[in-house]
Amino acid sequence: MLEDLKAKNRVWAAGKIAADPGFFQRLVGQQAPEYLWIGCSDSRVPANEIVGLDPGEMFVHRNVANLAPPQDANYLSVLQFAVDVLKVKHILVVGHYGCGGVAAAIDGERRGLVDHWLHPIREIYHEHHPELSALPDHQAMLNRLCERNVMRQVHNVATDVFVQDAWKRGQDLSVHGWVYSIADGLIRDLNVTVGGPHEQNAPSRG
Ligand code: CO
Repeated sequence: MLEDLKAKNRVWAAGKIAADPGFFQRLVGQQAPEYLWIGCSDSRVPANEIVGLDPGEMFVHRNVANLAPPQDANYLSVLQFAVDVLKVKHILVVGHYGCGGVAAAIDGERRGLVDHWLHPIREIYHEHHPELSALPDHQAMLNRLCERNVMRQVHNVATDVFVQDAWKRGQDLSVHGWVYSIADGLIRDLNVTVGGPHEQNAPSRG
């Protein structure tokens, strides 16, 4: 099976060179992506592929349930590098409907470490329980929780000191919240974009 992957890699690389002989040479020179993607690890949500971007065009961070926890060193390292060094112009927080992480956060089962990782989603669930419990069925509730989770992570990113400091320096940077639908391959913009420090309290805590 792994030989298949290596063979596919050779075909892919040859195809890239056939279409653009200087493609890999340019990438060796530098990466200058304009986007940071913060998305779910789910195998059905391949970041670059969904938005039709090539290698070199998007800096990507993925974890279970697309979280941006203010104490997570991995996420913070990615965020600082993207903002301070790469100077990306857009940070895309991208959740997806049918997220197993979001569902697992509130199903009451014990899985181990991931229960701790998913704790922020349980908090969002409890804070928005009146809205969520009024939805017609469990699926609609989970979909809305996926959206609420994205909104909260947009808030986390936009209020982070790295991002706030970039805005104070006058850096061009926006934080966006999207949800991807595995069912039709389409992205829905939640329209919670934050583009500067004056909007630091928007969106509301999601
Ligand atoms: Co997911």
